[in-house]
Amino acid sequence: MMSLEKWSGLPIQMRDDYSLVFEGGLPSVAPQIREFSAMKNFLKDEIGTYWRRDVYHMYRDVSLPEHTDAIHAAKLQYDITVIPPGRMGDEFVKTIGHYHRFKPGTQIRYPEVYEVIYGKVFELIQRASPDLERLEEVYLIEANRGEKIMVPPGFGHVSINPADDVLVLANWQLLDNKGIYEPYESKNGAAYYVIQSERLSNSGSLSAQYEFLPNMHYNQLPPLVRARTRDFPQYDLRSALPMYKTGVKNLKALEFLVNPEDYMDELTPDKLLARQNSKNEKF
Ligand SMILES: [Fe+2]
Repeated sequence: MMSLEKWSGLPIQMRDDYSLVFEGGLPSVAPQIREFSAMKNFLKDEIGTYWRRDVYHMYRDVSLPEHTDAIHAAKLQYDITVIPPGRMGDEFVKTIGHYHRFKPGTQIRYPEVYEVIYGKVFELIQRASPDLERLEEVYLIEANRGEKIMVPPGFGHVSINPADDVLVLANWQLLDNKGIYEPYESKNGAAYYVIQSERLSNSGSLSAQYEFLPNMHYNQLPPLVRARTRDFPQYDLRSALPMYKTGVKNLKALEFLVNPEDYMDELTPDKLLARQNSKNEKF
């Protein structure tokens, strides 16, 4: 068992089989399970088998009883996703990916914010035209434990576990936010695939490297922009401060998730990301 309390701010442990144990008065939540059999249309290659039948687990709407009413009154929910390590063919294990709905009466899709509770993530976000037919921007955001990642309005997202250890993510999002999965399914996944490539370093040792392969199912493919994430003090989202705790202390700071139309000047990639390569650099 490993305690996730320091980084999540909640009394949660993880068993050796990667299932979560809710303790200390935190109501237990049964996970939604993403089965391997439901992922086949989201992958680069046709893979016959994977080492787990249930690839990742999503624990939805987690909260301490003393916070539940206030969180729901603010139209928010807090979720935890556990993605054990693995490769699906040569692709690193990942979530299947989705866009979010428009806020009713607007052309603005709901944003979302993630936090790395354990492990390392590559969050691949892609902005599509309003009808979701054409891709306009693609970013690969790298984040480590304690860091937050913003999925801006209009972006779909996939969480990739690029490490040999488990990845545990938390997110805040609109209560009952629904994912739109079909655009990812019809293209066999996101705009790029992250695969492992083994190259000899100068010293002659074999080191794991990443390659980013364009997904040729998209007929227009923007270049992949690699980025690091930032702190977002304006939303009380700071590295290494568990966003469950800061969120319940000041739910108003998360209002951008519910009323994104009031925050559109701030919720842009330029303000939320630190680019690592020039826009035109190709991989
Ligand atoms: Fe989402």
